[in-house]
Amino acid sequence: MRKRTHPPVQPGKLPVIARTPAGPKHQLKPQTIYCGDNLVMLKEIPSESIDLIYIDPPFNSNRNYEVFWGDTQEKRAFNDRFGDAKAYIDYMRPRVGELYRVLKKTGSFYYHCDWHASHYVKIMLDELFGFNNFQDEIVWKRTANSGSSKANAKKFPINTDSIFYYVKSTSFTFNAERKKYGPEYLRRFKYSDKYGNYRWQALKTFSKETYNRLDKEGKVRKSPSAKYPEFKQYFHELKGGIPIDNLWDDISPINPMAKEIIGYPTQKPLSLLERIINVSSNPGNIILDAFCGCGTTIAAAEKLNRRWIGIDISPTACNVMSQRMWDFFKLTEGRDFHIEDQFRSTDELRQLPHFEFQNWACIALGGIPNKRKSGDFGIDGKLYPIETSKKKKEGLGLFGDIDIYYPIQVKQVDKAGRPDIDNFETAIRRDKRRKGYFVAFDFSKEAITEIRRLDKEGDIEIIPVTVGQLLQMETQVLQKAG
Ligand SMILES: C[S@@+](CC[C@H](N)C(=O)[O-])C[C@H]1O[C@@H](n2cnc3c(N)ncnc32)[C@H](O)[C@@H]1O
Repeated sequence: MRKRTHPPVQPGKLPVIARTPAGPKHQLKPQTIYCGDNLVMLKEIPSESIDLIYIDPPFNSNRNYEVFWGDTQEKRAFNDRFGDAKAYIDYMRPRVGELYRVLKKTGSFYYHCDWHASHYVKIMLDELFGFNNFQDEIVWKRTANSGSSKANAKKFPINTDSIFYYVKSTSFTFNAERKKYGPEYLRRFKYSDKYGNYRWQALKTFSKETYNRLDKEGKVRKSPSAKYPEFKQYFHELKGGIPIDNLWDDISPINPMAKEIIGYPTQKPLSLLERIINVSSNPGNIILDAFCGCGTTIAAAEKLNRRWIGIDISPTACNVMSQRMWDFFKLTEGRDFHIEDQFRSTDELRQLPHFEFQNWACIALGGIPNKRKSGDFGIDGKLYPIETSKKKKEGLGLFGDIDIYYPIQVKQVDKAGRPDIDNFETAIRRDKRRKGYFVAFDFSKEAITEIRRLDKEGDIEIIPVTVGQLLQMETQVLQKAG
């Protein structure tokens, strides 16, 4: 486990290589984004140290998401890789086991899923938490209308997610919330007198004392046609809203125009997480999301003065979270919060989706990956040399045209060949640069010969960097810091 080298793309910050080794195992480090597989990362967290856990793992949907990411150019493929329910549960069980371990005895746990796996998940959770620790299945109506786009389907359109809520003992935080009265309910208070608006409410079960008291106050009426006597219920005597039950139909999906929209597939509304955090924790408590995506949970926790830990396997997601912390709260990585990366072996890097690999390589090199996935004509990222910081002091923006950078090209191939070098040379020239970095697992002889030839000509310099070198560089920096 290691601290990440480079801060995300935050205005006013330059990528710097300043790595410190992670502290001893099992040390609680709130305000941390762990980038890696949660099964590994959770081992860093001490037992019974977390007050509230929410998770929203990828569903057993067997779907491929093709989603537009950020802007129109970039498409991002999301694979839900679990072929069947058993595989999904086998994958989740040890992870939920770790989550159970880190949850305090007084803690609460929320598992967000949908119909694809919900019934299997419930059984797994009953086994791990104990049937008696099951509190609720919250049913969240996740689209505003009733799936009208699928109105022609020969089944009822599915419009809800399930959120299973468990505790670990009989002692836990529950700050009951109430939701606003609906207009239909409010319309019933159509009468008024000098004390305010009221309605007539049937008095079905009542003690003799209650009846006598209300009667004395002139609040009871009994019409011959009514089965029960009725009493005057004043609006101002109500308790400020209807208690929230397990049907959550008052939290809308994120409006595409909303300020909170990040564009991350499966992003959940901030208000959903705010409700969970408000109900099941208090200010200062520690909130954990081990499948954190674009960081909705940690953003809600930050907003509500809780401490937080986010984990995600995707370096892209971790960068997005980091950026979100800056954009929403002006929190800076390294000062206000930390990112820790899982050490990745060459084999693991080979398995990463291409876009993730590209991001990893650019960041490991000290550069900034392109946000767009395509349309950048062979340039996957940019490395800003240190002199840029001088320009920064002179008041020139890091991301303006005036910046000097070296293009980075990343190929997730065993041996980059001569044509790859030729293409990169063209890209460098087109960008009016004279030097660029090329990352691959290795380079063919022809590729190296061409790089040397270009170097001799003195016109264009291409620096070949192997993945092995990047990993070695990381280790050296880590050793120095240690
Ligand atoms: C459904 S998304 C979570 C969305 C999140 N609730 C939000 O509002 O942005 C699931 C996330 O889990 C992450 N993930 C999948 N497997 C993981 C693992 N083993 N460890 C950590 N994160 C994982 C994925 O990268 C993805 O970002």
